[in-house]
Amino acid sequence: MTRKVTANVYMTLDGRGVFPTYPGSDAHTGPPGEADEFFRTMWADRYKDVTTVVMGRRSFTGHQRVHSTKGRKPTDPKFLFDYSRFLDQVDKVCLSRRLKKTDWENSRILKGDLARIVAKLRREKGGNIILEGGPRLISEVIRLNLADDYRIFVMPVVYGRGPRYWNPMTTQTNLKFLSVSHMPYGELLLHYGAVRKGGATPSA
Ligand SMILES: NC(=O)c1ccc[n+]([C@@H]2O[C@H](COP(=O)([O-])OP(=O)(O)OC[C@H]3O[C@@H](n4cnc5c(N)ncnc54)[C@H](OP(=O)(O)O)[C@@H]3O)[C@@H](O)[C@H]2O)c1
Repeated sequence: MTRKVTANVYMTLDGRGVFPTYPGSDAHTGPPGEADEFFRTMWADRYKDVTTVVMGRRSFTGHQRVHSTKGRKPTDPKFLFDYSRFLDQVDKVCLSRRLKKTDWENSRILKGDLARIVAKLRREKGGNIILEGGPRLISEVIRLNLADDYRIFVMPVVYGRGPRYWNPMTTQTNLKFLSVSHMPYGELLLHYGAVRKGGATPSA
């Protein structure tokens, strides 16, 4: 089975990888305890298909602190506990040259050329792969066109600072538009597919 590689991208209108506060930014729940469309699209609808999640070191340590089951607060809604259980059990790849070990279960630390690492993961047995961040890692993924598709959550804020997704590049990359959803608080959920040589786009 071919492992589909999806990059999750969370950005402000000016392409900054931050999570600012804005009207509605804390409202990502549906009916009591359930995820909204944003969270379902990025995560909950994909728990069955995704078996590997890749993060840069800062993103990985931040997720362990906040989103592992141990990091959950009793008052958190059910969908966040589901998310934590998923993250605890999924195969996690932390990219780091500095980190030598981790106590987060089902995790491995890899380092080196990102294109080679993604190619190696594609060759391994397993389901689909999410490249989760942070912005430094994802901007490299974009530059090298390593993902099969991009789920881009755009927040209605011009933030003006913070890590950038869009950095100078020497080559043009064309993507294929797949879908857009309008969120209730002005966010957009964009879905683009990579265009490979010969014009093929992986299925959505
Ligand atoms: N999904 C998300 O997690 C997300 C989304 C939006 C914003 N943010 C925010 O962004 C910030 C962190 O993002 P970031 O972009 O600075 O950090 P990051 O991408 O999570 O981590 C960067 C680190 O990853 C390691 N790394 C990356 N590529 C590597 C490779 N090919 N081989 C080995 N190591 C590699 C390096 O760690 P070493 O120094 O250990 O070598 C590098 O310093 C946080 O403040 C977070 O709140 C996160």
